[in-house]
Amino acid sequence: MNSIASRIQKIFSESFSVQPQLFFSPGRINLIGEHVDYNDGFVMPAAINKGVYYAVAQNGTDECHFYAIDFDEWFSINIHEIKKINSWKNYVLSVVNEFLLLKKSIKGFNCVFSGDIPRGSGISSSAAVEGGLAFALNELFNCGLSRVELARLCQRAEHNFPNVKCGIMDQFANMMGKKDNVLLLDCKNLEHQYFPLQLDGYKIVLLNTKVHHSLASGEYNVRRQRCEEGLAILQSKLNIQSFRDIYSAERIISCKDEMKKEVYDCCQYVIEEILRTKKAAELLQQHDLIGFGKLMYATHEGLSKLYQVSCPELDFLVEQTLDNVAVIGSRMMGGGFGGCTINIIAADAIEGFIEKTGKAYLQKFNLELEAYITETGDGTSEILFTN
Ligand code: GLA
Repeated sequence: MNSIASRIQKIFSESFSVQPQLFFSPGRINLIGEHVDYNDGFVMPAAINKGVYYAVAQNGTDECHFYAIDFDEWFSINIHEIKKINSWKNYVLSVVNEFLLLKKSIKGFNCVFSGDIPRGSGISSSAAVEGGLAFALNELFNCGLSRVELARLCQRAEHNFPNVKCGIMDQFANMMGKKDNVLLLDCKNLEHQYFPLQLDGYKIVLLNTKVHHSLASGEYNVRRQRCEEGLAILQSKLNIQSFRDIYSAERIISCKDEMKKEVYDCCQYVIEEILRTKKAAELLQQHDLIGFGKLMYATHEGLSKLYQVSCPELDFLVEQTLDNVAVIGSRMMGGGFGGCTINIIAADAIEGFIEKTGKAYLQKFNLELEAYITETGDGTSEILFTN
C-alpha cells in the first residue's frame, strides 16, 4: 500500500480503535482549455497519481471528527451545527453541508486525511479534498449519488463555504478520470470523451513555481464577473447565447467601445481559448504533438496578456522553454497567480532541462523549483486492502 495510505490507516486505528475504509482522491492536470469551464467551453484534464488519502468510518454519534495530518490539526463539530469556519475546514464542512442540503441521512463519522499535492500548486488539491470526502460519505451512508452528481456536489461545496466560484473541471476530473486517458469535457452539458494519452517518447512535467499569490481566489471570482459582464453585452449585440457561438474573435470588435478594456480582453481570450481547445483535441487525435504544443504556448500568451492571471515566475518558466527543442509545449496551468506550468518534454531531455531551469529560477527568484513527472490515474475510489 502507498505510504500515505498506510500512515493514515495507522493513525486512524490508533485514534479510534476501529479499522477505517480508505479512499484515494486525485489531483488533476489540464492539457488545455483554461478558464473556460465556467464559460461553457471545452477542457482537457486528466486525473493524476498525486492526491489526497482519506481514512473514514461511521462513529454512531452526531459528532464529526477530523484530523488533517498535513496541518497537524484536529477538529470536531456536531453534524447539526455545520457552518462556515475557515481554512481547510471550510472545504470538508462545505461537503458535509451539501449532503445535508440534499437531505441525505448522514450521521457522525471519524476522518483522517493527508495528501501529496503541494497546496497552491494549481493541481487542485481543493477538489481532491472535496472529492475524497464526498465519495467516502456517499459510500458510508449509502447515499446513492453518481460520480457526476458527486462532482456537481463538490463544485457547489467549493462555491459555498470557501466562496470560490469555480467551474466544473477539477471536480469532474477528480471523479471521472481514467488512467492513461485525458478527458475532453464539454462544460456546457458535461458530455465527455476519453482520449488515450499517447505521448510517444514525451512526458508531462509540471514545474512548481512555489509561489501562490494571495489574491488568487478573489481575482478568480473577478475574472468570472468580467466574463459575465462581457457576455451580457455580446448577447445583446450579436444574437448569441454563449462564447462558443462566436467562431472568430474578430466578430466582437464591433462591441469594443461598449466594454471596459479588461472585460473585452477577457472575452477575446475566452473565445480564442474555446476554439483553440477544439483544435487541440483534433490535433491530439491525429498525434500531432508539435501542433498541440504550439497551441499550449498560445494559451499561455492569452492567459498572461489578455486574461491577466499569470505572474512573473510563471512567465519566466515558460520563457525558459522557448529556445529548447526538447520542449514542445509549455504554459501556466490552473487558476493562475502562481502554481505550476505544464510542459511536454522529450523524455531523455527531462533531467537536463530540470537542472538548467532550476538553476536559472533559483538565480532569478531565489526559489527552489520543484518538478513532477506526471502520470495519469483513475478518479476517486476506495482503496481495497487486505490486512
Ligand atoms: C481552477 C478552477 C477550475 C478552472 C481553473 C482554470 O482550477 O477550480 O474550475 O476554472 O481554475 O481553468
